[in-house]
Amino acid sequence: CRLGILASGSGSNFEAVAQAIKNGQLNAQIQVLIYNNPDAYAAVRAENWDIPAVLLNHRDYKSREDFDAEIVRTLQKYNVEWVVMAGWMRIVTQVLIQAYTDKIINIHPSLLPSFKGASAIEQALASGVKIAGCTVHIVRLQVDDGPILMQAAVPILPDDTTETLHQRIQIEEHRILPAAISLAIKAE
Ligand code: GRF
Repeated sequence: CRLGILASGSGSNFEAVAQAIKNGQLNAQIQVLIYNNPDAYAAVRAENWDIPAVLLNHRDYKSREDFDAEIVRTLQKYNVEWVVMAGWMRIVTQVLIQAYTDKIINIHPSLLPSFKGASAIEQALASGVKIAGCTVHIVRLQVDDGPILMQAAVPILPDDTTETLHQRIQIEEHRILPAAISLAIKAE
């Protein structure tokens, strides 16, 4: 299965997918990484893995739809079948969702449906819950919504900060993202 990855930041989840493919745990290829921040470390990882990386800066487009249309053109150019949002910090529109209906996967650092949006970990800490986690799901138009593929729970410790909790959640993300992709593409 030919994957396209969308990442905005560090790209550790992108790299976990690349590693799972290399280890034979995920039967797929990464055709292209698309990133939207010029200084995203994900681009450095792509170079190290010899994976084509394309910068599409959302600031260069006049609407979310125009930006998504360029993403779709790029995905199609690289023959992408499934799209993985691995730390993609942009709201996506119907332009992307209609082009890849039920074939877009997102990872979110909470146990959905709790704590949607960009500050999921801060929200979990502020709420006083004792269990946090991460969710891999199929992307629908509403943000952080759509059928859940896999989840993992992570205890919140008394001294946790956003950083320490995020680090422990990421260990689980790196495990369940490749596993959930494998599940989704096999079920197709
Ligand atoms: C992950 O925690 C993901 O859940 C969230 O953004 C973070 C991306 O991390 N949406 P990385 O860029 O994969 O290291």
